[in-house]
Amino acid sequence: MTTNELKKRFIEVYGGDDRQLRVFSAAGRVNLIGEHIDYCGGKVFPAALNLRTTVVARKNGTDKINLAATTIGDRVSLAIDNLDAYRDLKWGDYQAGVAFTMQQDGYEIVGCDLLYDTTVPFGSGLSSSASIEVATAMTLATFSAEAGGKGVDLVQLAVLGQRSENTYNGVNCGIMDQFASSLGKKDNAILLNCKTLEYEYIPLELGKYSLVIANCNKPRSLQDSKYNERRAETEEALEKLKTVIPSADCLADISPAQFNELGKKVLSGKVYDRAKHVIEECARVLESAEALKKGEIEKFGEYLNQSHYSLRDLYEVTGDYLDALSARSREFDGCIGSRMTGAGFGGCTVSLVLKDKVDEFIKYVDEKYYSDMGVRAAFYKTSIENGAQEIKE
Ligand code: GLA
Repeated sequence: MTTNELKKRFIEVYGGDDRQLRVFSAAGRVNLIGEHIDYCGGKVFPAALNLRTTVVARKNGTDKINLAATTIGDRVSLAIDNLDAYRDLKWGDYQAGVAFTMQQDGYEIVGCDLLYDTTVPFGSGLSSSASIEVATAMTLATFSAEAGGKGVDLVQLAVLGQRSENTYNGVNCGIMDQFASSLGKKDNAILLNCKTLEYEYIPLELGKYSLVIANCNKPRSLQDSKYNERRAETEEALEKLKTVIPSADCLADISPAQFNELGKKVLSGKVYDRAKHVIEECARVLESAEALKKGEIEKFGEYLNQSHYSLRDLYEVTGDYLDALSARSREFDGCIGSRMTGAGFGGCTVSLVLKDKVDEFIKYVDEKYYSDMGVRAAFYKTSIENGAQEIKE
């Protein structure tokens, strides 16, 4: 929907006219490489997308935050003096979590009517949740500043979004998604150090290639519990590795060489595999960023493939659908790399494909994947855009 259409819809839902309406937007993201390492202090390499969450907002002078959405019928009203009470909502729990977390952090939470429009496909691995959190945080922080409270700081919006997902919604996610959603930059990827939150923008100059994002359309199940389980395994690995490498604060502090020398002394089985993935993936991100800076796109593509194999064999978060989709992508002549992106267990792949073969690629992969899995993939036309912003038109 266009901004004007959204404003119209807002007025249908809440009444009034368009004079005091504000519009905020935050991005979904694709992670190019560096998967399941943000919560281990690694460097990741995401970019913000044109798939986004947009919020139309108006202060309402009450002590309620009212929520509505363009795509679902549910309406929710949150009492500002009781924001802790909405953890079990089917829809609206993410918004409530952000409002509660910001209130705890000293923001001035102001009553308002909000209409959400999300074009990030849900459960796709493209961070629909983070885009909702960051768009909510930006809206509430803007109103907070106008009421004399704390205001918008893009890094803080990301941190608040992550904290609220961890503590209110029970998903132990890292910082990557919210950071990309908030701080993304048009036509750039972000090389983000998740230990220090230092970051660098790297222009996404892919020469004759372009990125294609495809959804395997397998409904995700058990995703949150498996995610938390993987995170716990990496914590166990770190505790054990610290007995032989006491200087390590996180798995990302350990080099592949150190791990090869000492890993087997203290780790075995799945926990060894999980740590090996994390440590090698951290190294791959740095090499990928270097390759991209030098314009070595084919090399970058090969790192994408290596990342997928590691997520499949060592971290075990891909599953048959993502494996089939990325394998069919990779076998296409003109695709130089393909991998799952996001948490896994379903969701999307990202592939590097010759620009003038993209249509042919989509047709090929669509047919082959359907004959393999009996499910149709979806392909998205995406571009790399800015992160969170107020839209003033
Ligand atoms: C999800 C989480 C992120 C990150 C990825 C895997 O998207 O929200 O923090 O851990 O999975 O890389």
